[in-house]
Amino acid sequence: MGLSEILSIISGDLVRVEEQIDKSIQSPVPLVYEISKYLLAGGGKRIRPAILLLCSGSLGLTDGWKKIASAAAIELIHTASLLHDDVVDDAALRRGKESSNVVWGNKPTVLVGDFLLSKALGLIQSCGNLELIKAVTDASAKLAEGQVLEVMSSASMIETTEDVCFGIIENKTASLIESSARVGALLANNDNDKINAVGSYGLNLGIAFQLVDDALDYSSTQQEFGKQVGQDLVEGKMTLPLFYSIQGATKTEKDKVNKILGKESFDEQELSFIFEIVSKYKGADKTKDSAKIYADKAKESLTYLPTNEFNKSLDMLADFVVERTN
Ligand code: FPP
Ligand code: MG
Repeated sequence: MGLSEILSIISGDLVRVEEQIDKSIQSPVPLVYEISKYLLAGGGKRIRPAILLLCSGSLGLTDGWKKIASAAAIELIHTASLLHDDVVDDAALRRGKESSNVVWGNKPTVLVGDFLLSKALGLIQSCGNLELIKAVTDASAKLAEGQVLEVMSSASMIETTEDVCFGIIENKTASLIESSARVGALLANNDNDKINAVGSYGLNLGIAFQLVDDALDYSSTQQEFGKQVGQDLVEGKMTLPLFYSIQGATKTEKDKVNKILGKESFDEQELSFIFEIVSKYKGADKTKDSAKIYADKAKESLTYLPTNEFNKSLDMLADFVVERTN
């Protein structure tokens, strides 16, 4: 089933979220709006707002402005993080278009990221609930920590362990998805067990989401993915498709891979050799298998929530995350 069908139950609210986002990015400084709009209108999946809305719906909250405001706020934080990430990664493409750092340069890109983060925190604050502020600010801090972990680990790819890979994934991606789910549950004001079940859904779904992203980086095409493929290796990032492939490789292959990964940068031949190893040992497939395990864990959490249409959509969303191609 396609994403828009899975989310049809909240389609009206998603339109309201878009309206709120557009209101929030208005600025007397034209370039601020232009850069914000460029990325926000560029076709993101709005997974985080959708999770927030579905989680609040599954626990009985189906109307009100606060869930619209907080869903918009979380998408603004995500957008801010992508602007910053594209500067950190020196990216060329985002959502099928030249990234903001290429079009306008690093300085306005970073600063507009700061603008979006500030607007997001203002929106969350206007919901008047300290628990929401904590859930969102904790996640924002983890995003930054995840990025720092990733930058540090790229200094020594071969020493990056599976645990480090998962630590990065949990911080840089799963934390904000977990927070989206938790905020939805907090707004519905349910008991702690249900809030924790929803949080666990978000965390595991978020891990699955990033694992699939890491797999697609080795197995998709630029056309389909909307960003350059093979970038993780080029940027010196050890991710699980490569990690799992090295585990399966012969001693001679391992030695050659380690020699290449120990270098500061890689030439075309070296890159091709690593891509061949990942293809030979099916690292992308293994990573998708691992994503499926996390998506199943997410689904398991849903059994602790009331059975309703929102819950069903959350279940289908978990399948979508694993099967997605972009
Ligand atoms: C994409 O990772 C990046 C993230 C999911 C998080 C980026 C976070 C920061 C830069 C910290 C800043 C934090 C805030 C709150 C503004 P990726 O490079 O693996 O994915 P990509 O292929 O989509 O670029
Ligand atoms: Mg990046």
